[in-house]
Amino acid sequence: MSSKVNIGIIGTGMMGHEHIQNFNLLDDAQVIALADTDETMLAKAVELNQDKARSSADFESLLSDPNIDALVIATPNFHHIDVLPAALQSGKAILCEKPLCTNLQDTQRICDSVGDSGQVFQVGMEYRFKPALADMIDRVDRGDIGRLHMLSIREHRFPFLPKVADWNRFNANTGGTLVEKCCHFFDLMRRIVASEPVSVLASAGQSVNHLDERYNGQTPDIWDNGYVIFDFANGARALLDLCMFAEGSRHSEELAAVGDKAKVECLLPQNIVTHGHRDTWAVEQYPINVDEAILKAGYHSGATYFQNRAFLDAVKGLAPVIVSADDGHRAVAMGVAAQMAASQQRRVDMKEFGL
Ligand SMILES: NC(=O)c1ccc[n+]([C@@H]2O[C@H](COP(=O)([O-])OP(=O)(O)OC[C@H]3O[C@@H](n4cnc5c(N)ncnc54)[C@H](O)[C@@H]3O)[C@@H](O)[C@H]2O)c1
Repeated sequence: MSSKVNIGIIGTGMMGHEHIQNFNLLDDAQVIALADTDETMLAKAVELNQDKARSSADFESLLSDPNIDALVIATPNFHHIDVLPAALQSGKAILCEKPLCTNLQDTQRICDSVGDSGQVFQVGMEYRFKPALADMIDRVDRGDIGRLHMLSIREHRFPFLPKVADWNRFNANTGGTLVEKCCHFFDLMRRIVASEPVSVLASAGQSVNHLDERYNGQTPDIWDNGYVIFDFANGARALLDLCMFAEGSRHSEELAAVGDKAKVECLLPQNIVTHGHRDTWAVEQYPINVDEAILKAGYHSGATYFQNRAFLDAVKGLAPVIVSADDGHRAVAMGVAAQMAASQQRRVDMKEFGL
């Protein structure tokens, strides 16, 4: 490997562009190849990368390119399984966007292939890397709140954005809203609670968004709101409150972890952490400062920069992979279980998925 890690990006839509912008901020990486079937997205990616990468409509040409050390897979959710088996065969390091795949058969297949091969394989659960959230996680890990009993995660935001060929309008392509975007939050639950989920209750549906849209005569079937409650093996409980028709929100994401000693909150996108004490009722507020250039290189409060930094460290053998294929599989399993709990109106046990 040269002094810089040579990156190839497969899928140069919104997230592919964000990866390019962030690798461009990292001195020890260079994006040398890009693949996308959409000419407009590919051209924009080439421009963002200042013409320094070769481009192709054929992602397989990147898999066989000996100059590429690491691949980023940022094609639509349903397409990850079309790329991953051959990408794994190539032996290159892989950063795959979330969700790992849209169903558990496929995520299990990828976990089995990665196995204990030692191949660097990271899943793009980048919310762990949002600076304010990383600070909150540190506080919980250090025991600042005592023993954690309750975690609540609220995301109140705008509807799903338009995507290339409108792939994100249908559950068959995304895995369903609770898999597609909420895998981030379920991954955070496992990470913050530091335990595995046992069962889930949920109520969710499509109430407002996309109902007047038609694609080849079909109305989108993606949910836009819901409540999901997980019980964890260590006795903690965690709630997700999702609303995707809440443009007028002070905070798009609000997380609260409450222990027997204190409460920590994280407010995004403002990057604020608060620490509230039970004994004095005092609340301290900590703004988390993030470099402007990092904030401007994407839509995720700086997360992509720090995630990609961690990926490069793993590729260079300086640190272990932080979000593994197994983490990706378990986050999808929680999403699938939550989709099932809401649609079948019953408590779903994680044992039903062998977990
Ligand atoms: N980490 C995050 O917070 C985050 C945020 C948004 C999206 N995502 C994930 O990133 C992935 C991409 O989402 P997006 O928002 O960039 O979507 P997008 O539609 O903007 O981009 C997807 C790109 O993949 C291309 N593509 C489709 N089939 C292809 C093929 N066979 N070969 C090469 N390219 C192909 C499309 O032309 C498009 O340019 C999805 O898995 C999505 O869930 C992650």
